[in-house]
Amino acid sequence: ALVSLRQLLDHAAEHQYGLPAFNVNNLEQMRAIMEAASEVDAPVIVQASAGARKYAGAPFLRHLILAAIEEFPHIPVVMHQDHGTSPAICQRAIQLGFSSVMMDGSLKSDGKTPADYAYNVDVTRTVVQFAHACGVSVEGEIGVLGNLETGMAGEEDGVGAEGVLDHSQLLTGVDEAVQFVKDTGVDALAIAIGTSHGAYKFSRKPDGDVLRIDRIKEIHQHLPNTHLVMHGSSSVPQEWLAIINEYGGNIGETYGVPVEEIVEGIKHGVRKVNIDTDLRLASTGAIRRFLAQHPAEFDPRKYLAASVKAMKDVCIDRYTAFGCAGQA
Ligand code: G3H
Ligand code: 13P
Ligand code: NA
Ligand code: ZN
Repeated sequence: ALVSLRQLLDHAAEHQYGLPAFNVNNLEQMRAIMEAASEVDAPVIVQASAGARKYAGAPFLRHLILAAIEEFPHIPVVMHQDHGTSPAICQRAIQLGFSSVMMDGSLKSDGKTPADYAYNVDVTRTVVQFAHACGVSVEGEIGVLGNLETGMAGEEDGVGAEGVLDHSQLLTGVDEAVQFVKDTGVDALAIAIGTSHGAYKFSRKPDGDVLRIDRIKEIHQHLPNTHLVMHGSSSVPQEWLAIINEYGGNIGETYGVPVEEIVEGIKHGVRKVNIDTDLRLASTGAIRRFLAQHPAEFDPRKYLAASVKAMKDVCIDRYTAFGCAGQA
């Protein structure tokens, strides 16, 4: 059944668990996410980015998610718009039937230029007003994602600030988070604590200097009733990097957000954990390996089945680690 983000995250807070929010672009990702959820009885958050709309088209994405709800009627599903860059984009998502939208006013509508506080409050409050009138939930963001040491947003294309950012933008302040929730009325709040989008988050295993889980605890103490969201939360599995590189790929040394750090965040108010890159890596690794091992195979369903299996395993791992298995 289609549920709103608010409904699901209220349940998660009450029962002290977190949920992965997986990005979805195609049938294979959708199947992996749902089959895994069905196997471990987890509720689901699927999210569509602007890049996904560009790739698949809004009607295909919409029907892909509706098809998932039809095939898995026993699983609660949130249909979430990821990183809306303007109120108009969020309004369009609501018209398409999304039960939740993110208004990312931390960046201007180009998705690259850091915005000031007044702009962020203005666009986010506008979206909260019309979304709540339709029973749709709203996620906002305060702070700009990026590596606390290098000041880089991470991803080359897609969502992320351009240029080098300073520490005050990259680490969400406690007071500004409290004020932002008060000024906007968002249901969920994405905060910046040193993560970034994409595979190139950290050049070494992150410690407390570059990944500030302690800031989550402080923010949660002051906003105990606000559901916190971690973006850029792929763990960048070293085993999938090795498989990609073993079978013709070339990805340099890089590290993601350790699952145990996310679990620590979940103990302190994190309810939604955005993951895209990990499914991309698993899919690519599985397809490279399958094609290398079966050079005469040319039926795409064969290597795509390997991709679904690999992504499904990652999904099961995250549902289990975040405590949402058994909660559907
Ligand atoms: O927020 C970033 C997600 O990983 C979506 O990326 O715009 O390439 O679909 P994308
Ligand atoms: P990753 O690139 O770490 O998977 O983050 C995805 C994300 O934050 C989508 O909004
Ligand atoms: Na989002
Ligand atoms: Zn994100």
